[in-house]
Amino acid sequence: MSTSPVRITVTGAAGNIGYSLLFRIASGSMLGDTPVELRLLEIPQAVKAAEGTAMELADGAFPLLRSVDVFDDADAAFDGTSIALLVGSMPRRDGMDRADLLEANGGIFAPQGRAIGEHAADDVRVLVVGNPANTNAAIARAAAPDVPGERFTAMMRLDHNRAIAQLAAKAGVGAGEVSRIHVWGNHSNTQVPDVDHGTIGGVPIRERIADDAWIDGEFTTTVATRGAAVIAARGASSAASAASAAVDHVRDWVLGTPEGDWTTAALPSEGHYGIPEGLVAGVPVISRGGRWEVVQGLELSELTRTRLAATVADLEAERDSVVRLGFVPSTS
Ligand code: NAD
Ligand code: LMR
Repeated sequence: MSTSPVRITVTGAAGNIGYSLLFRIASGSMLGDTPVELRLLEIPQAVKAAEGTAMELADGAFPLLRSVDVFDDADAAFDGTSIALLVGSMPRRDGMDRADLLEANGGIFAPQGRAIGEHAADDVRVLVVGNPANTNAAIARAAAPDVPGERFTAMMRLDHNRAIAQLAAKAGVGAGEVSRIHVWGNHSNTQVPDVDHGTIGGVPIRERIADDAWIDGEFTTTVATRGAAVIAARGASSAASAASAAVDHVRDWVLGTPEGDWTTAALPSEGHYGIPEGLVAGVPVISRGGRWEVVQGLELSELTRTRLAATVADLEAERDSVVRLGFVPSTS
């Protein structure tokens, strides 16, 4: 394992996810026994709060944490960074429709993508968490044409983890027993959890659970609407579980996925499974040698194909809005 520090930039560092995520990174949960330099990017009004978080990070006396710096300038924050975690975004406000939301976020993710393209390290990997995460990743990618497109990913790992948790609870087993599931499409309520190739304790999931009505109905709806359910319960969107999923995504990307299993990441499509090129969509993936590879050749049921078409249509509608707004060229 390398001993030179890895530079990591986290945007929205003073927010709820940042408050959990930064400490997980500093503790070594994300990159194992590798020293890290943290760069925290915030809007000017939140810089003071981010400085407070930086003080607490110092007070954690984490052996792997080499430095913490706070910025309100994207060019400086992304300078030399190898891992960019784009968490800060514009939340939906009352009266905002999807186009308003996408326009506001284009104003954040296009400049940040540009700053990554111009200042980040050559090996930069980007994970977009801030919603609407898939399309924000497409916007950032379009603004950084010199960075390989595959380095811009969006987070569907929380959806993946939620699906595992529901299946494990239904079967009365630990989460580690569930393998080879994934979640297609958009991080929205059109997402499609797919268990058709999965196993629980080595037994095919549909055999082990033996309740297709639950799998195709309540399970799917519970996973796809879990974010809203957490908001209704907490009065704020999921934060620690989102941070944990971001840690899982980057750890697997850098260090590799476990042999014999796969996971979910939203990647710019290269046309696999009929998903139009350039849409950033959740797909089954493994990671080898620091690169995501789409798991190919899976047979999709009729129901999954229908649901996949709907979540792709959802992504296309978002893509069409940001094309109209000029954030993404119509060809990407
Ligand atoms: P939060 O409101 O607590 O924090 C967001 C932070 O981002 C704030 O501190 C804000 O000042 C900062 N910010 C806003 N614009 C910025 C900019 N241009 N540059 C840098 N920082 C900026 O929100 P949170 O709970 O931390 O959630 C962050 C985002 O993650 C939201 O969009 C939320 O919907 C999303 N989210 C995604 C998933 C997922 O699975 N993809 C899960 C949970 C939450
Ligand atoms: C989640 O899935 O928990 C979040 O994306 C919900 C949200 O709207 O912030």
